[in-house]
Amino acid sequence: MTASDDRSLRPNIGEFADMAMQHCIFPLADRAGVLRDGPNIFVEGRGVELKDQEGKTYLDMMGSHTRANSLGYGCEEIARAVYEQLLQLHYVGTVDNFVEPSVRLAEKLAQLTPGDLSKVMFVSGGSEAVETALKLAKQYQVESGRKPRAYKIISRWNAYHGATMGALSVTDWLGTRHISEPGVPGTTLIPGPTRYRNPFGMADDEYAEFCANYLEQQILHEGPELVAAFIAEPVMQANGVQVPPSGYFPRIREICDRYDVLLIIDEVITGFGRTGAWFASEHFGISPDIMTVAKALTAGYFPAGAAIARPDIVEAMPMFRHVHTFSGHGGGAAAALANIAICERDGLIEKGEENGAFFLEALQSALRDSPIVGDVRGIGMWVAIDLTADPETKAPFTDDTAAAIVRAMRTNGVLASTIGTAFEMAPPLITERDQLEQAVAVTAESVHNVAAARGFGR
Ligand SMILES: Cc1ncc(COP(=O)(O)O)c(C=O)c1O
Repeated sequence: MTASDDRSLRPNIGEFADMAMQHCIFPLADRAGVLRDGPNIFVEGRGVELKDQEGKTYLDMMGSHTRANSLGYGCEEIARAVYEQLLQLHYVGTVDNFVEPSVRLAEKLAQLTPGDLSKVMFVSGGSEAVETALKLAKQYQVESGRKPRAYKIISRWNAYHGATMGALSVTDWLGTRHISEPGVPGTTLIPGPTRYRNPFGMADDEYAEFCANYLEQQILHEGPELVAAFIAEPVMQANGVQVPPSGYFPRIREICDRYDVLLIIDEVITGFGRTGAWFASEHFGISPDIMTVAKALTAGYFPAGAAIARPDIVEAMPMFRHVHTFSGHGGGAAAALANIAICERDGLIEKGEENGAFFLEALQSALRDSPIVGDVRGIGMWVAIDLTADPETKAPFTDDTAAAIVRAMRTNGVLASTIGTAFEMAPPLITERDQLEQAVAVTAESVHNVAAARGFGR
């Protein structure tokens, strides 16, 4: 065993932080930042509150950083459901072996998801769900005989669909793509709608229309007979909660239908209540051909995901040539069933919709006069505060202003995250109004203090 250099650079930071510095890889964290600030070791969570090693508590407005934690910490019902399932029958393999809760969950997902989606393949997370969806699309096009040569997938600038090579090939966010290229051949990226600013300086609606029309041109350019699918997040996370204008996805659906291109909607981050509906697709009245889910499927209590397809897509294939060892783990199915039952019983989707509207309005009003806030937008329990160094030109900050605000919020006991030009909050659906009010107060104070310290007057 060798002592890591990182450890010697950060002496006396506590036993577990010290151990983490020696032995843990910090995925997607800037090493210099971790060396400066140390890793965050949390020891307990209750409801929306997290406690760290020093006993300091935080309001976790990020749903455990990844926005997966939709029901808060310490949910005994989910923990018991998982425990009991693991004791009863934790796992029986994959292929055509199932534990009974997986089958019940598949039926439940068929009921909850929009349109004809009714065939479910379970996996361990979002990237695997996307891999599964891409392979379903390609195999369907070939084996159904509709497009025997189709292998191309179209995705969008700034999309995030995951970290594995297939999902990464349709990903353009977080700086993860270029270092791993070349990716899977046949993927191309087109512009997708954004709010507040876009590279062409168009109005939001005009840009969204341009982006939808771009899909048609890209399909024609690539050769419709070669294009298997188009993949999109219904609300893109890049630079914070990009809610498209209402006409965008219906037009996308129309174009996909015209050219027999499957529409894969990636609901990994938006599914199970984040946007004030079970699925964000509902806001736009579209039914995808394939949908991917993960994260809040289990409220973060067990790693699980799924790809859910139209029945004819699956039935066109004699065999779907794809498998994961942990497809259909009993623990994940039990967690998901318990999560869905709690959301239904406690009206959490509706609560998230109402509290999300309250939170957004309160933030908009508290930040209205800030010289560094360009746009406050959101949908359901998901908000972004987009910052600008110059409201006239909408120029984003090129320094660490967003990170400085998030650090100040953390010091004041509220956890948020930077996301490109913005910072973001995604509170659990159980968050109460007084907690949201506290988050708004801390946000406003932190934004104003950082702006003043950097020479921006009120
Ligand atoms: C829209 C979307 N798709 C896919 C993924 C990948 O999921 P995972 O990290 O569980 O592999 C993410 C993760 O953030 C996501 O937001």
